[in-house]
Amino acid sequence: MSTLLEIKNLTVKYDGEENIINNINISVGHKEIIGIVGESGCGKTTLIRTIINLLPKHASIVGGEIIFDGKDLCHFNKEQWRQLRGKEIGMVFQNPSSYLNPIMKVEKQIIEAIRNHKNVEVKIAKEKAKETLQKMNLLDTERIMNSYPFQLSGGMKQRVAIAMAMVMEPKLIIADEPTSALDVTTQLQITNELIQLRDKFNTSIIMVTHNIGCAAYMSDKIMVMNNGRIEEFAATSRILNDPRKEYTKQLLGAMPKLKGAEGW
Ligand SMILES: Nc1ncnc2c1ncn2[C@@H]1O[C@H](COP(=O)(O)OP(=O)(O)OP(=O)(O)O)[C@@H](O)[C@H]1O
Ligand SMILES: [Mg+2]
Repeated sequence: MSTLLEIKNLTVKYDGEENIINNINISVGHKEIIGIVGESGCGKTTLIRTIINLLPKHASIVGGEIIFDGKDLCHFNKEQWRQLRGKEIGMVFQNPSSYLNPIMKVEKQIIEAIRNHKNVEVKIAKEKAKETLQKMNLLDTERIMNSYPFQLSGGMKQRVAIAMAMVMEPKLIIADEPTSALDVTTQLQITNELIQLRDKFNTSIIMVTHNIGCAAYMSDKIMVMNNGRIEEFAATSRILNDPRKEYTKQLLGAMPKLKGAEGW
């Protein structure tokens, strides 16, 4: 499988603190789903925000390289980031309300997301928006397009946010706990939809989750993080059947056994 993203010896810190991310090395193939797991505070969000250059000002990359599709992201300027983010790398966060505009109807938000990156007529952008919502199983598209975010359920809002991230058919989706705020049934549905999107669009996905069961269910590879370092990064079946670190064993031991969620 050819490599889409390669992270080499990445170390990151916040001002006045010890390194938060320490010497991370991973590669992500085209069409590959990577699950990142590890307990709260181990640096998962810091790592993925580093990849998409969304760290706060008081954070800095101490060393290392991030190569995406042959491009060295650590030396990108503002304009290069504007072109890349949203178009080649899409993002989904835990709380869709924090990045959907509360006073703009869904239709307008998706159309703007498209027209930010592509010079197309509103009519064509609207068609594309509808098509993408349908791919997220939002079949009642007219109503959803005509809604403000507050008129949608949490699961629907997250589907709209994922559709917005997918609308430019990015090569990579980075998702930070996209289903953690949702009930178990909706979590499973959205996880399945993400897997289907990968199959339809050939998108690679990096998914941060607290739930190792969810990572096991959807990922080709799992990265176990602890205290800013990689404990293990290997094929999902290897991690599940032959965990080599005590920390991984503990995480697997704590895996929730959920009833009623087939395949979780
Ligand atoms: N903006 C920030 N300024 C300073 N320190 C931060 C900042 N954000 C995170 N940290 C610190 O970096 C470490 C890693 O935090 P991070 O949010 O990356 O962890 P996480 O694995 O995503 O945790 P969670 O599972 O709770 O989301 C923590 O010690 C945290 O206190
Ligand atoms: Mg986090």
